[in-house]
Amino acid sequence: MRAVRRQAVALTVAFSGVQLAIIAILGLGAVRATGGAIEVSTLVAFLLYAFTLMGPVSELSQSVTALQSGVAAARRIREVTDIPLEPAASAPVSAPARSGSPGGAVVELRGVTARYAPGTRAALDSVDITVPRRGHTAIVGPSGAGKTTVLSLLLRFLEPEDGRILIDGQPYPELSPAQVRERFAYVEQDTPVVPGTLRENLVFGRPDADEADIRRVLREVRLADRVDALEEGLDTPLDATSFSGGERQRVALARALLCSADVLLLDEATSQVDAITEAAVTDSVRRHADRAAVVTIAHRLSTVIGADRIIVMEDGRVRAQGTHRGLLEDDALYRELVAALRIAGVPEADPGVPEAASAG
Ligand SMILES: Nc1ncnc2c1ncn2[C@@H]1O[C@H](COP(=O)(O)OP(=O)(O)OP(=O)(O)O)[C@@H](O)[C@H]1O
Ligand SMILES: [Mg+2]
Repeated sequence: MRAVRRQAVALTVAFSGVQLAIIAILGLGAVRATGGAIEVSTLVAFLLYAFTLMGPVSELSQSVTALQSGVAAARRIREVTDIPLEPAASAPVSAPARSGSPGGAVVELRGVTARYAPGTRAALDSVDITVPRRGHTAIVGPSGAGKTTVLSLLLRFLEPEDGRILIDGQPYPELSPAQVRERFAYVEQDTPVVPGTLRENLVFGRPDADEADIRRVLREVRLADRVDALEEGLDTPLDATSFSGGERQRVALARALLCSADVLLLDEATSQVDAITEAAVTDSVRRHADRAAVVTIAHRLSTVIGADRIIVMEDGRVRAQGTHRGLLEDDALYRELVAALRIAGVPEADPGVPEAASAG
C-alpha cells in the first residue's frame, strides 16, 4: 500500500510539473514572441522540447516506485530466510535401525519438558509416555492440557527443552527430522487441504498409491459416494471452499490411512464428522491398530472406550493411564470427562458404565 501511495504521489508531481512547464513556456513565449524578442519557430521548438521531456520523467518516476516494491519484497523474502533452520542430525545420518521386539515401544517420551517460547509457561512438564508398536493409545484431557503438544514433539515441530524422545530406541537428535517424520502419518486438529486436485491431496504422503488403494481408503472414510458424484471424480480441483469441514477432515484421514506409516497420529480427526462416519473411521482405526501404532486425541467417548490404553493429561502432565474400566475406578478427572462426554453421545456397548445404556 505504501508503494502504491508513493507511486500516485510521484506520478502526480512529475506530470503536473511537466504540464506547468508547458503552460509557462506557452505563456512567456507568447508574450516574448508578440514583443518580437523571439521567433515563433523558437517558441515551437521549446514546446517540442517540453513534450519530449514527458517520457523520461514518467519513466523515472516508475523506476523509483518499482525500486520501492522491490525493496518491500526483498524484506519479506529476508524474513523467511531468517527463520532458524531445523536442527540436523547430530550423528552421521544413517538409516534408522528398525530393530526392537515386536511388542516393544515404537516411540517413547522420557521426562520431556517443552515450552513454545523461552520464559513462558511449560506446555509439557516431565512427561513420560510410551507408545507400543501395535495397538490404540488414546490421549484425553481438558483443553490446553498439552495433548497436541505431545504430537508436535513426536513430529519434531517442537524441540524438547529437557528429556529425551526415542523412536525404536534411537534418540531423536541422532536422526534428521525427515527420517523421524517418515514414520508417522498425521491428521491435524484443523485439517487443511492443499491446493491441487483431490487425488494430489490423497497421495502426497504416498505418491505410488494405486487406484485400488485410493478407493479402499475413500470407502473407509465413507467418501467414495461423494467422490463418485463429482463430475471430475478424483481429479476435481480442491479449494478450501468446495468441501465442508467434515469432508476436509475425511480427505485428511484418507490421506493418513493411505500412508500406512508405523505410527498414525489423529488429533481430534473425527470432531466434525457425523456419527455413522465416525463409527466407520473408528473401525478402520481399530484394524490399523492391529498392525501398527495409533495415537488418537479425542473428545468423543466412542473413540476413547475402544482404546487399548488411555492417557489422561492435565496441565501439561500425565495424570493417569490405564484402560477405560480401570480409569473409571481410579481417576476422578476421567470420570468427570466421561460423564460430560456421555451427554454428547452414548456408544451402544459400554461395559464399563452399565447405567449409560438407557440414553441415546
Ligand atoms: N503455538 C503455540 N504457541 C504458544 N503456546 C502454545 C501454542 N500451542 C499451544 N500453546 C500452549 O500450550 C499449552 C498446551 O496446548 P495444546 O495445544 O497442547 O493443548 P491441547 O491439549 O491440544 O488442547 P485442545 O484440546 O484445546 O486442542 C496451552 O496452554 C497453550 O496455550
Ligand atoms: Mg489440541
